[in-house]
Amino acid sequence: MDKITSTTRLLGLIGNPVKGSLSPEFQNFVIDRLNLGYVYLAFSVEHELLVQAIEGLRALGTSGLNVTVPYKKAVFGEMDALSDSAKAVSAVNTVVFQENGELRGENTDWLGFIKSLERNGFEPRDKRCFVFGAGGAAAAVVYGLLRMNAGRIFIANRTLENARYLVDKLSPYSDGTDLNCGSLSWPGLSEELRESDLIVNATSVGMTGDEGKSICDDPAVFGSNQIVYDLIYNPSPTFFLQMASNEGARTIGGLEMLILQGLESLKLWTRVEFDSFEMLNDVKSFLR
Ligand code: ATR
Repeated sequence: MDKITSTTRLLGLIGNPVKGSLSPEFQNFVIDRLNLGYVYLAFSVEHELLVQAIEGLRALGTSGLNVTVPYKKAVFGEMDALSDSAKAVSAVNTVVFQENGELRGENTDWLGFIKSLERNGFEPRDKRCFVFGAGGAAAAVVYGLLRMNAGRIFIANRTLENARYLVDKLSPYSDGTDLNCGSLSWPGLSEELRESDLIVNATSVGMTGDEGKSICDDPAVFGSNQIVYDLIYNPSPTFFLQMASNEGARTIGGLEMLILQGLESLKLWTRVEFDSFEMLNDVKSFLR
């Protein structure tokens, strides 16, 4: 931001906790770089005050919000309108406060993921994809891969019921994609992994505090013909990615998706167009 004046517009992040989030740092960097009249702040909100917080921000004429853990589902019911992707994934990570006062819920997580694959030269069309996890993050990944006409998507999850629920929820979008699931102890898991072109960890296993762990403990499933993606960005690289990289796989950490989803949100709020990949490089250097 150039300087804060009486016309500076408010953007923000709502979640709990938000301390340590990279979004305020990089969003304000981009706002500054593009000379936009906005400021981006982080708000940690207690659950019982969530609706009041959103209504207060609406009353103040806020332009937009990112929504993070644990509210991506909770804000869903507060929206006046929802994008197709937010409906499909049942989660809102971006709220656009429209000029008529209405709140539009969007989901840019899936687009951040797909753009990051594009940047790394991976085209999902007709490819075999393997996703660990069946929570909100996994839903965005699977939805993105379905939109890009992946050939096959296999979801493996600790709780099989949750994976089945995700398959049922997303099967309306699986036009031509073979969408299947199994538990982490399914006997065919290793073979399915070995035959996959893309393997994604969309579980929380391996995050800081749990960094010695990997959702997959068999290095033999990885190979040099694969892209292995971990949505976790801290630590970087995760143990999962280290294992895959040791076997020659190309690896991608979660920072790119985080930045790219944020840039897509910024485009929705400000209606300013810019080159996401160029900006991603600048943001990465800045955060380093
Ligand atoms: P997010 O919104 O980040 O996706 P979430 O919806 O809580 O978070 O989903 C977390 C995912 O990590 C789930 O797939 C969860 O598996 P379950 O459906 O069985 O709960 C997975 N997960 C979390 N801890 C795990 C662990 N210790 N081992 C295996 N999977 C785990």
